[in-house]
Amino acid sequence: MPRDATDTDDMNLAVNMGGLPMKNPVTVASGTFGYGQEYNQYFDITRLGAVTTKSLSLKVRAGNKPPRLVETPAGLLNAIGLQNVGIETYLSEKAPFLRKQGATIIGNIYGHSPDEYVELASRLEQESAADAIEANLSCPNVHDAKTASGAVLVSQDPDAIIEYTKAIRSATTLPLFIKLSPNVADIQEPALAVQEGGADGVCLINTLLGMSINPKTRRPRLSNIVGGLSGPAIRPVAVKMVWDAARVLSIPIIGTGGICTANDAIEFLLAGATAVSVGSMTFRQPDAPMQVLDGIKTYLKQHRIERVEELIGAMEV
Ligand SMILES: Cc1cc2nc3c(=O)[nH]c(=O)nc-3n(C[C@H](O)[C@H](O)[C@H](O)COP(=O)(O)O)c2cc1C
Repeated sequence: MPRDATDTDDMNLAVNMGGLPMKNPVTVASGTFGYGQEYNQYFDITRLGAVTTKSLSLKVRAGNKPPRLVETPAGLLNAIGLQNVGIETYLSEKAPFLRKQGATIIGNIYGHSPDEYVELASRLEQESAADAIEANLSCPNVHDAKTASGAVLVSQDPDAIIEYTKAIRSATTLPLFIKLSPNVADIQEPALAVQEGGADGVCLINTLLGMSINPKTRRPRLSNIVGGLSGPAIRPVAVKMVWDAARVLSIPIIGTGGICTANDAIEFLLAGATAVSVGSMTFRQPDAPMQVLDGIKTYLKQHRIERVEELIGAMEV
């Protein structure tokens, strides 16, 4: 597939995401892009600033029973339950494909203890199967010991965030990002915990908890009952959380949540994000990340802005 020559024209689209050089600020949201193979039919995935993988766990995970996806007004409720191929298959089949293409890889990982995250991060680094690590400490869909007992997720407990982040930090020299749950009263606390733990960046936001009931059957529409809301419905919440976090952090942010167009992505940059990820929108329009990228370039041209970095945190009040 030919590369788009305009990606290398005058405008400087490059950003430095916590030590990860990205040729542009656009990546994809974990879990909405698989491992890139299917989407490579729709566009050259190496045009992305980075490919972010589906959360990888030590073992293969089948995920929750269907139904696992429900459409809501301006959004999507999912309770996939972190279905993934597991680290071994990723290393033997998925990473070689991404490497062959020449993609920059953000390897998203999910575990049940600091040790599991440590092992996942170490394997990815040892096998050169990622250029940065994104640790998902925020998924609300899994019935692990903590959620089953009604206790909080790691991502909702600043002390636990520090513990997990420090452990992963000590296991890898790759840029390390922590992905946080928005299901908290104040996002600044967990965001500061990520920084204290020594990570290089924060990814905001994962899905917001939600549920939907069919009045005819009186049954929940998701087998898991509760799911995670994504899509345009959550964008204003996500933009505010990025803005809140950016005001107290010195490490950069990947902004995500309902990005459909370049203008949506630019909102996140203006609020303080350094990079953006396109998620649920790719289900409706597989080349949405490219539309977002091309739209950012047009915006820069129209506004005579030389470097995309000038937009970061540039909201005017
Ligand atoms: C079907 C689906 C699966 C997802 N799986 C993961 C996952 O495995 N790991 C993760 O960190 N986030 C996961 N997410 C959350 C997204 O990465 C993203 O944070 C969220 O959907 C908000 O972005 P969006 O509104 O653009 O989709 C998933 C989201 C969806 C819709």
